[in-house]
Amino acid sequence: MQGAQEQRTQVAIIGGGPAGLLLSHLLHLGGIDSVVLERQSRAHVLKRIRAGVLEPGSVKLLRDAGVGQRMDREGHVHDGSWIAWQDREPFLINTKAHCGKPMVSHGQTAITEELYRVRERDAGLIVDEAENVRLDDITGGAPKVTYEKDGATRTLACDFIAGCDGFHGVSRRCIPARALRTFERAYPFGWLGIMSETPPVGEVIYARHERGFALASLRNPMLSRYYIQCDVGADLMDWPDDRFWEELKQRFPPEIADKIVTGPSIEKSIAPLRSFVAEPMRYGRLFLAGDAAHIVPPTGAKGLNLAISDVFYLQRALIAHFRHGDDRYLESYSDMALRRVWGAVRLSWWLTKLLHVFPDDDEFEMRIKTSEFDYLHASPNAQAALAEQYAGLPFEE
Ligand code: APR
Ligand code: PHB
Repeated sequence: MQGAQEQRTQVAIIGGGPAGLLLSHLLHLGGIDSVVLERQSRAHVLKRIRAGVLEPGSVKLLRDAGVGQRMDREGHVHDGSWIAWQDREPFLINTKAHCGKPMVSHGQTAITEELYRVRERDAGLIVDEAENVRLDDITGGAPKVTYEKDGATRTLACDFIAGCDGFHGVSRRCIPARALRTFERAYPFGWLGIMSETPPVGEVIYARHERGFALASLRNPMLSRYYIQCDVGADLMDWPDDRFWEELKQRFPPEIADKIVTGPSIEKSIAPLRSFVAEPMRYGRLFLAGDAAHIVPPTGAKGLNLAISDVFYLQRALIAHFRHGDDRYLESYSDMALRRVWGAVRLSWWLTKLLHVFPDDDEFEMRIKTSEFDYLHASPNAQAALAEQYAGLPFEE
């Protein structure tokens, strides 16, 4: 440690969510030191309820990194996710059959908890409640991060900065407008989600109904997660549990609705849906990863998986740089990560359009969407194409 308030590390990581923590752990495994600067308290970070439908590639990466034991104990392995279309037979996006490996449902909170646990075990440096983080000299050779902790201003000198601070973070905003292009779609509806301590239906089931989209999911054998499409400006006060359960059941086919066990919600929230991509994902010595660079609607369950794939590419690049003086992966990081990001953005956008009722959907549009579903049902090629995109293509070499 240099001066009392001056620290030095190889990689300064802004953000202690899944992306920042996983990057810190993978760099540690590669012998690279890092410091994570997280704005919130640990309790605040671990209170976040977020989806965790893991692609086979994410499952393998977590296992190989030694943080998959809890996922293997508690996660729900399934052959794919179902689409229940009004007045049609349900359809399985069979990732197991088409890609040889299952998906695993395992809440993001549990993954974040496990990452915090192993970073603590390995004496990883994570600064919670780091306020007013500021990035300096990101295009020079000696970037610095300044922050406040317990009223004292501290400086962290580093070789690289990883912006893992989510959509509302500071990192992306450090890239001048002339160097950044952003792409965005805001959807004209939100998701009203609840958690209930009830036995789940047992599978991840997307429902498409004329009343709107619904989703049945799970966290464990006694923790169910459900969502319904709602108006953008919906107010939770207008959605008591009884009304939610009644609307949810109307959107599923009777044979599924009859299996839904209702109970008091232990968490209820409304999330807006948006698609967002920032290009490039690198500026000088600043590299963006996870929600700092992109947001997908949760329809394709891609958010966490994209954070994991960005981190896989970035840790590989940084380790090659520090261990072998090889900068090929650093130079190609943004383009390589963005190829996967845009693939996931496209799939999530397509599934969101297919499964939700848009205000301007006329009869023609409704028929087109039903025909698209019928084609999925009829064509093994269409099923394979959807399954491999839902499961996620292999990481690029
Ligand atoms: N300084 C330090 N930390 C910050 C700052 C800041 N200025 N701004 C935000 N943060 C922290 C947030 O408190 C949060 O803990 O950065 C972290 C970013 O974590 P996430 O938002 O969870 O983003 P990421 O790690 O990329 O994970 C993506 O989260 O939103 C879901 O669907 C998404 O599952 C995906 C996952
Ligand atoms: C969830 O379990 O919360 C979940 C599952 C699938 C999705 C989104 C969320 O596409």
